Amino acid sequence: MATITGPLSGDAKNTVVEALQGALVDLIDLSLVAKQAHWNLVGSHFRPIHLQLDELTDLARAHMDTVAERCVALGSSPDGRSATVAKSTRLQQPEHGWIEDGKVVATVTDILAGVSKRMYERIRATEEADPVTQDLFITIAQDIDKQHWMFQAQR
Ligand SMILES: [Fe+2]
Repeated sequence: MATITGPLSGDAKNTVVEALQGALVDLIDLSLVAKQAHWNLVGSHFRPIHLQLDELTDLARAHMDTVAERCVALGSSPDGRSATVAKSTRLQQPEHGWIEDGKVVATVTDILAGVSKRMYERIRATEEADPVTQDLFITIAQDIDKQHWMFQAQR
C-alpha cells in the first residue's frame, strides 16, 4: 500500500487534520441540508430560494472536495462517510416534510452563521500550524459569509 506523507507532523498535523475533518463534516452536511430545503421548499418566494439553495449546494460540494484533498495531501485519511457525518455534525437539522420559504431562509441563515463561526475558529487554530490550510479556510469563510448575507437579506 502506498504511504502518503506531507509537510506536517506531530501536533501541527493533528491540529490541522482535526480542523479539516470538522470542516469536511460541516460542508457535507451543508450540502445535504441545502438539497433537502431545495426539494421541500414551498411558498410564494419558491423560485429564487430554490435556485439559491442549489448555488449553496454547489459551493459546499466544491469546498468539501478541496478540504478532503488537503487532508489527503497532508497524509491523513478524510472520513466523509454518512455515519460519520450523522454522528458528528453540528448543523441544525431542518424539520421533516415541506418547509415554508420564510422558515427555510431563517434556518439556512442560522446554519450558515454556525458554519462561519466554526470556520473562523479553524482559521485561528491553523494560523501557526499550517498557513496553507488556513488560507483554504479563509477562502471558504469568505464564500460562507457571502451566502449568509444573501440569505439574511431575504428575511
Ligand atoms: Fe433541483
